[in-house]
Amino acid sequence: LDDLLNAGVEGRAVLVRSDLNVPLDGDRITDPGRIIASAPTLKALAEAGAKVIVTAHLGRPKGEPDPQYSLAPVAVKLAEVLGRNVQLAGDVVGQDALARAEGLTDGDVLLLENIRFDPRETSKDEAERTKLAKALVELVGDDGAFVSDGFGVVHRAQASVYEVAKLLPHYAGTLVEAEIKVLGKLTEEPERPYAVVLGGSKVSDKLAVIEALAPKVDTLVIGGGMYYTFLAAQGVSVGNSLCEESMIDTCKALLEQYADVIHIPQDVVIADSFSADAESKIVSVLEIPDGWMGLDIGPQSVRRFAAILTSAKTVFWNGPMGVFEFEKFAAGTKGVAEAIIEATGKGAYSVVGGGDSAAAVRQLGLPEDGFSHISTGGGASLEYLEGKELPGIAVLEG
Ligand code: 3PG
Repeated sequence: LDDLLNAGVEGRAVLVRSDLNVPLDGDRITDPGRIIASAPTLKALAEAGAKVIVTAHLGRPKGEPDPQYSLAPVAVKLAEVLGRNVQLAGDVVGQDALARAEGLTDGDVLLLENIRFDPRETSKDEAERTKLAKALVELVGDDGAFVSDGFGVVHRAQASVYEVAKLLPHYAGTLVEAEIKVLGKLTEEPERPYAVVLGGSKVSDKLAVIEALAPKVDTLVIGGGMYYTFLAAQGVSVGNSLCEESMIDTCKALLEQYADVIHIPQDVVIADSFSADAESKIVSVLEIPDGWMGLDIGPQSVRRFAAILTSAKTVFWNGPMGVFEFEKFAAGTKGVAEAIIEATGKGAYSVVGGGDSAAAVRQLGLPEDGFSHISTGGGASLEYLEGKELPGIAVLEG
């Protein structure tokens, strides 16, 4: 970003792709982390006199305007965080966006409506994506620039992330720069022991990262909903717990190949239904009755995982250990997070990756500064650690 600021932005329109994809409960933002993390770049540009045009997505609307995915609540929060007025365009690149862009004065901030209301954003057809990118370029004019600051979306080859960077002088924002620096520390000679904790619901989402990391780390701790597919792979009955049948063979092979590295729970907290006030009990993983489902790891597993984590020198954590949104099933996630905080206090380098685990830290009232870094990227940080090329980063380097 400094390169752009040094080149001078006063009076210039600058398009910024931010990741403002925050969790909502109705129109209430339950975790504003990504908005707060996006603020420094926007603030720096506005203070330097740029006309700042922000584009972002929220959720996965179906390529057409849908009020439940409007960025309206985000615009309100962004204004509060920036301490300046933020206009929200009524459309993405239509009449209202154009008129508002033309009316901007130095230091103004305009947020375009959810970029995914336009089907071209996520189109598989590059020509379509390029058309949308050209429409975005029109908003900033000939003298414009593009700043890529949405780290959470750099793994997406989408119009506002990828194609637009090819059409305008482009720069990385401070958030993207910081995230790459931090995650780079995990891939370049991490201090050992290096422990990775993976949770979350779907094993299919995490398979690639497990395969990439298992040979590189000292310990891979697995919990969360995805654990039950590993349990099923051991021939154990999982009751009504989440289980991806099609992944069972792969999980079995991973458990065999990385028996020394992969650590899985021995006890779990089970429930008779998926609800906050379900009846619950702690059982061995070998004793999940029919009709019950595992919603958290048990206390014995927490103790064992904590022993591993508190002696690690590098820790990466992605994905909750249980349904932390329900108090009864939050202890596993909390216990693991507290162990990582303890390790960090003893000098370990710890990174929390992923929207859900970052949200868990804040919602469980854990200190954010207890970790070395809380990444804003979910899929993006996993793909970075897998060693995949991230299109939104590659295009900036090209
Ligand atoms: C995320 O939540 O990880 C990013 O905002 C990307 O969202 P997506 O997975 O819908 O592309």
